[in-house]
Amino acid sequence: MSDIFAPDAATGRKSFSIPERSELPVFTPNAAVLERNHIVGFNSRNLTSRPFSLLRSQLIKRMRTNGYKIVGITSPAPGAGKSFLSANIAASLSRLPSLKTLAFDLDVRRASLAANFGLTGKGGLEDFLAGGTDDLTKVGCSVAGTNLSLFPCFPNDLETVDLLASDRFAAFVKALKKLPDDTIVIFDMPPVFANDDAMVVATMIDAYLMVVEQGRTSARQITDSMRLLEPAKCIGSVLNRYEGGIGEGIGLGAYDKYSDYYRRDD
Ligand SMILES: Nc1ncnc2c1ncn2[C@@H]1O[C@H](COP(=O)(O)OP(=O)(O)OP(=O)(O)O)[C@@H](O)[C@H]1O
Ligand SMILES: [Mg+2]
Repeated sequence: MSDIFAPDAATGRKSFSIPERSELPVFTPNAAVLERNHIVGFNSRNLTSRPFSLLRSQLIKRMRTNGYKIVGITSPAPGAGKSFLSANIAASLSRLPSLKTLAFDLDVRRASLAANFGLTGKGGLEDFLAGGTDDLTKVGCSVAGTNLSLFPCFPNDLETVDLLASDRFAAFVKALKKLPDDTIVIFDMPPVFANDDAMVVATMIDAYLMVVEQGRTSARQITDSMRLLEPAKCIGSVLNRYEGGIGEGIGLGAYDKYSDYYRRDD
């Protein structure tokens, strides 16, 4: 990774370099932690990872068709499963050797990707966003044995709207958009109704995936949030905690009738 370039003479904006996976420290997640947090996307043999493989394929198809690189994952209200889905979709994408996946925790105030993957520390992506460092290799890691680069946030008291509405954040997103076409960037976003953060982020990304929580998200909440996120494009929606889908609480869809299809008897 080259150093940060000098600020643009006309705009004063910096342009940031996005590190290659090989430039990041390697992190090996603990299998028990992943299991406890329901992060199954790395494991193609886990039956519950299958909905994420299907989601992954749909996402890739739609992103390629539209030339999108950055997708945000959001929901109208808190707790719908955005971070759970961001982590699992990123993990599932990262199994594909032909693709580079980068996942960023942009729910800066209620960061949870670090906990989901079992990362501890301080000075994560929030430090970069706040200008504490210009070097993304200091705040990210590459997940061992996968094609995933992970940029978590750690607990902080930052005023996030100031950070996300800044020129700095715009320059960072611009650098992400210049990444090669074999890259998919996932933003774990805040919920739409919590504050302005999701709306601010939505103005800069290519598209968003709307997480709908069975039994809790109302039709009105969905239409209101889609209106608030305009003109950002909704690339699709995920019905989370759907009861009647594949077992053990993941419940993303009704794929259980195919559960024996890949079962091996050996
Ligand atoms: N389908 C699911 N099956 C099992 N656990 C789930 C599922 N969806 C979410 N969870 C769990 O529910 C909790 C809340 O989910 P998560 O943190 O992903 O929500 P969120 O939308 O990111 O919340 P916030 O708005 O606070 O960021 C987590 O402990 C997560 O592991
Ligand atoms: Mg979250």
